[in-house]
Amino acid sequence: MALALSYLLSFLLLVLLLPYSTIAQTSKNQSLGSSLTAQNKDTYWVSPSGDFAFGFQQIGKGGYLLAIWFNKIPEKTIVWSANGDNLVPIGSKVELTKDGQFVLSDPTGKEIWKPGLVGTGVAYAAMLDSGNFVLASQDSGFLWESFDHPTDTILPTMTMNRGSKLVAHYSERNYSNGRFHFTLKMGGNLSLETRFFPLEFSSTGYWSSETEGSGFLVVFNQSGSIYLTARNGSILKTISSNAGPSQDFYQRAVMEYDGVFTHYVYPKGGTNTSNARSWPKAWSSLFRIPPNVCTITEEIGSGACGFNSYCKLRDNQRPECLCPYGYSFIDPDDVMKGCKQNFQPQSCDEANPETDQFDLIDMPNVNWPLFDYGHFQDQTEDWCRKACLDDCFCSVVIFGGGQCWKKKNPLSNGRKDQDPSVGGKALIKIRKYNSTLQCSRPGADSKNNDRSTLIIIVSVLLSSLVFLNLLFLFGFRFKYWKPNVLQQYPAMPGMNLRSFTYEELRKATDGFKEELGSGAFATVYKGVLQSEETYLVAVKRLNNRVREGDLEFNAEVSAIGRTNHRNLVQLLGFCNEGQHRLLVYEFMSNGSLASFLFGDSQPNWYQRIQIALGTARGISYLHEECSSQIIHCDIKPQNILLDDSFTARISDFGLAKLLKLDQTRTTTGIRGTKGYVAPEWFRNMHVTVKMDVYSFGILLLELICCRKNFDVKEQEDLIILADWAYDCFKDMKLELLVANDEEAIHDMKRVEKYVMIAIWCIQEDPSLRPTMKKVVQMMEGAVEVSVPPGPSSFISSI
Ligand SMILES: *[C@@H]1O[C@H](CO)[C@@H](O)[C@H](O)[C@H]1NC(C)=O
Ligand SMILES: *[C@@H]1O[C@H](CO)[C@@H](O)[C@H](O)[C@H]1NC(C)=O
Ligand SMILES: *[C@@H]1O[C@H](CO)[C@@H](O)[C@H](O)[C@H]1NC(C)=O
Repeated sequence: MALALSYLLSFLLLVLLLPYSTIAQTSKNQSLGSSLTAQNKDTYWVSPSGDFAFGFQQIGKGGYLLAIWFNKIPEKTIVWSANGDNLVPIGSKVELTKDGQFVLSDPTGKEIWKPGLVGTGVAYAAMLDSGNFVLASQDSGFLWESFDHPTDTILPTMTMNRGSKLVAHYSERNYSNGRFHFTLKMGGNLSLETRFFPLEFSSTGYWSSETEGSGFLVVFNQSGSIYLTARNGSILKTISSNAGPSQDFYQRAVMEYDGVFTHYVYPKGGTNTSNARSWPKAWSSLFRIPPNVCTITEEIGSGACGFNSYCKLRDNQRPECLCPYGYSFIDPDDVMKGCKQNFQPQSCDEANPETDQFDLIDMPNVNWPLFDYGHFQDQTEDWCRKACLDDCFCSVVIFGGGQCWKKKNPLSNGRKDQDPSVGGKALIKIRKYNSTLQCSRPGADSKNNDRSTLIIIVSVLLSSLVFLNLLFLFGFRFKYWKPNVLQQYPAMPGMNLRSFTYEELRKATDGFKEELGSGAFATVYKGVLQSEETYLVAVKRLNNRVREGDLEFNAEVSAIGRTNHRNLVQLLGFCNEGQHRLLVYEFMSNGSLASFLFGDSQPNWYQRIQIALGTARGISYLHEECSSQIIHCDIKPQNILLDDSFTARISDFGLAKLLKLDQTRTTTGIRGTKGYVAPEWFRNMHVTVKMDVYSFGILLLELICCRKNFDVKEQEDLIILADWAYDCFKDMKLELLVANDEEAIHDMKRVEKYVMIAIWCIQEDPSLRPTMKKVVQMMEGAVEVSVPPGPSSFISSI
């Protein structure tokens, strides 16, 4: 709703401002003495067509960036910037001085940035329609142009010659120089390379055009093809080619912060060709290199993700950096910084070897190739496990086909193979909490040694020195990537959503045969997308009575598709055909938290902590980091799914908006589920993010205690978990909450902290509840937790 409204508003604004802005925003040549000052509103000069603007953009709360951006689209996507390493405060100024200097200075007058001019005699500055910002002399010769000094982006009509490079940003929203280069080397090879961060030098190549000696110019031509030419202009290698008539699309190609070079297109407004109209109003990626960035293998350096982490390729060919069990991100806002152990490492003291204090957790198909310090053949898994547990240096052992490889920290080049048939697994060592409980472990069933031939070959290759040599000989050619099944469907909204026909989905689900679950508004079916390989998906069919305008459905779906977080279930595509509305999601192999938590084999304390943290981070992302805030409205264990590494993945977010439930709640029942719904819902108060905080509080209590909020099996005064938990807290009898759970009992400090956080979350007064961001900070220990007041009469209102 808010999204639709904001679209409408920005459209109205555009209509109102358009005739005016082309005059007022001065698409004219800027003469000597002109200047721009960083203010609360955007200040900029536009190109004659209005497509591009040059000026100040505020970057979060960090300060202002002097930049060039696409000005006619709501995203205002930045394509060039001057001071990414050094954001400037409000009041800073960029000025074309009377004596022909062009300078960015802060409010104290200190010079921050200045272009290196070729020659003197600047007469004017101009933002051109190509996206090129130029400083020109009287005779209109360019003394400086932004096209000669690209940052991370190239645009049509731009070229790159030998020696020039694009430097990726540091992270999605940090415009500092980052960790990857796209460079046309002096020798003629076009390469993707990692960087010896923080130094500028290139480190390891991971993709190459293989045109040593002949590559001369990278061209992004007018019609949107990107290719490498020889000196005589002949094309040596086509990198990407255009989707449709170039006048209908905005285009850009970016060295992304995660190492993937991507060509994006965006349909221009006002075009009426059917080609452009069938595209979503968002950047869609046309082409990407390398095919699998996770296979970056560095002898010095951490690989695609940070140390101690591992890389998993998403369906959109972008990487996801993950921490193994027992580890967490050093900086959750900068996941590529790597992971740290959440526990005290094993003692090497002979008198106190601590061998029985540690456990190994299975991570199927995960490997940290290279750098083993121990290698054993013809051994059983039990032998390998013991060998690692008995060795205080060992932090992970890779086992496959009777071989084991011991590794120590920091682990590098970690990756999870996409193809489960490769087999092999990592066994990661974590500290136990004096467990006597039988834990159900991820992948505990993988006693599968029959695929051993392939396992041996791959594992030996990955881990041996011979392979290292090969790797260096063949440089970046190493990849075991397979064509993505999803690629055969047309790309649609959001970043990479696919548009399916109803028939395709009917076939994929075998006529909607296998039901995974159903609710008031939709039914979910298991599906298989098939070509050379198979790919499991969950297809959610919305009930027929959900009927909204086509445009609105697409807009909401593309808002959901733009979300991207390791704790959310990724939307892959949709179908909007006639009265059929379907959503296609990643398939989550380990089902829902509800069945895990309340099923036969209790998850262990450590896994529950990770699930709680992951869920909190996912909700926080929805609340704080999406371009339009998403309130989930139905957080409960049934909506938290578990992926193949038992990471919590929130599902069904964005549906409240899609289904227009905020308008219908009084008449058509509630989306929220009894027990998890905040009291204000029933009072018809305005729905805020604090609804989700409440539901999370209940979920957290359930995770701590491994039982449902309402449990008729329990004694009467224990029936309502939230009541009981507060009583236990008040009476300082928290151990009652985790009776029989040895691991938790040995971690009472955390139990107490989490119970306190949960009580804060379920405060009756929404304004007393913390934000999800604060909840995450409290759980991570970054912020102290104060003693919560009683949640008061919150139960009576249900
Ligand atoms: C800018 O100046 C150049 C050279 O004087 C001229 O050719 C061009 O038309 C001017 N552009 C605008 C928009 O005034
Ligand atoms: C961007 O990242 C760099 C490198 O970690 C850091 O030094 C800088 O402070 C960050 N900038 C902002 C605005 O957060
Ligand atoms: C751009 O390059 C493509 C591929 O070589 C070619 O087909 C197209 O005609 C070129 N467009 C222009 C405007 O030169």
